[in-house]
Amino acid sequence: MQIKPLIGALGAELLDIDISAPLPPDTLAAVRRALFDYQVIVFRDQKLTLDQHKQFARQFGPLHVHPYILAKPLDGHPEVLRVVKEKDDRRVFGEKWHSDVTFLERPVLGSVLYAIETPSKGGDTLFANMYMAYETLSDGMKAMLEPLTAIHETPVPEVDPATGRPLEPMRLVNKRGEHPVLFTHPETGRKLLYLNTTYVTHFKGMTPEESRPLIDYLCEHATQAAFTCRVRWAPGTVTFWDNRSTQHLPINDYHGERREMHRVTIET
Ligand SMILES: [Fe+2]
Repeated sequence: MQIKPLIGALGAELLDIDISAPLPPDTLAAVRRALFDYQVIVFRDQKLTLDQHKQFARQFGPLHVHPYILAKPLDGHPEVLRVVKEKDDRRVFGEKWHSDVTFLERPVLGSVLYAIETPSKGGDTLFANMYMAYETLSDGMKAMLEPLTAIHETPVPEVDPATGRPLEPMRLVNKRGEHPVLFTHPETGRKLLYLNTTYVTHFKGMTPEESRPLIDYLCEHATQAAFTCRVRWAPGTVTFWDNRSTQHLPINDYHGERREMHRVTIET
């Protein structure tokens, strides 16, 4: 296996590796290390069945079932979330900067997203490095943020944001998580900024109005170009990201074309 960094801030392609079969222990350890070193790892030209996709992810931890569904679940595979944008859909799933499901009490480890069908151009995903976001704050700002806890919440949507069609919530658990704003990553021991504008509504003990300007400032700071990388997809691309140390943003620039991905998310 070879590791080819994408750019300076984060991200790497892992070459000469087939993830469809269980990985030997040394390869698995190397992939795990690359995930935590580079935060976003990309595999090209993979061919995975639903079971192989889940089997790959399960080597890193138990699989998570999304608390609400945005599309018809795949029969027998509740852990696989279909992320689909049809030709005529205007919106895209998760269209603002975010980390996945941070409204859970326990942050998830990461997600493995597999591209089934991609547009002829566009539909890239941006990722931002939340270690860099933390490390580049002033000492004064770090000290001010140190005692703060952020409230992460999600309203379960009543309609699919992409199609406007009614959405059937599968379960409504864990809609509110409380997490320290400065979070120490349990695997790397490094501190990071743990915030996103999609799910964070306010700081504990403060009103949303009081919190919003600081949340907006910090998230704008965190997603500046120098802290990001951009993943270009093709059918067979698999991207595995560390969901605690990154945020991501899907680019909605391919109206008139269809894109289909399968996502499996791993619990800690
Ligand atoms: Fe997402």
